[in-house]
Amino acid sequence: MKLLRRGAEAELYETEFEGKKALLKKRVLKSYRHKELDAEISSSRTNLEARLIVKARTLGVKTPQVYSVDKEKHEIVMEFIDGERAKDVLNKNNFIKICEKIGQGIAKMHAFDLIHGDLTTSNILMRSKELFFIDFGLGKTSKKVEDKAVDLLVFKKTFEATHADLLPKGWEKILAGYNRIMGTAGYAIVEHIAKVEKRTRYH
Ligand SMILES: Nc1ncnc2c1ncn2[C@@H]1O[C@H](COP(=O)(O)OP(=O)(O)OP(=O)(O)O)[C@@H](O)[C@H]1O
Ligand SMILES: [Mg+2]
Repeated sequence: MKLLRRGAEAELYETEFEGKKALLKKRVLKSYRHKELDAEISSSRTNLEARLIVKARTLGVKTPQVYSVDKEKHEIVMEFIDGERAKDVLNKNNFIKICEKIGQGIAKMHAFDLIHGDLTTSNILMRSKELFFIDFGLGKTSKKVEDKAVDLLVFKKTFEATHADLLPKGWEKILAGYNRIMGTAGYAIVEHIAKVEKRTRYH
């Protein structure tokens, strides 16, 4: 198994599953935390992430196919997406279409109450023209306008920091794609982003 990268919470390996190239995501225990509690958290995150990856797929959002889950070892084996992170692909020439598609993908999740929890352009992979959402370990299910607005606001903050050269149009396109799928339900959520922003600015 080849270690590809060490993320914030997990190690990512290239492996094989039934002869296919696969990606193994292994949550690593943080030694500074309580050991048993840590193992418990990692198990439930692993389980949750696998469930949400599958759920997103059923909603028409592209995610890697889940091949196997080992709760005890905190491992998920999934389809290897041979592509690049949206973060590295986005530029002034291509961002309009990609940003619209990203917004549409988020809306497909939110329309069915799936909150991603860690939206960034590092957690979106691109294979040819297709977008794949990954890293659902902080996700959840919620109907709340607040949770959807926060999901978008987290994304807005990282998008602004990472893709300053694409502003303001890039974010506008993301919202345009979002509203196209969400319809009128989207307006209340987008409006709510500003409220959350105002409230959190002073903390
Ligand atoms: N299914 C996959 N196919 C190909 N590459 C992947 C896949 N899943 C993850 N990766 C690569 O590994 C990186 C980290 O994966 P992921 O975001 O799931 O873990 P993480 O622990 O949250 O890491 P980070 O802290 O970097 O976000 C991704 O940005 C991507 O480059
Ligand atoms: Mg990530």
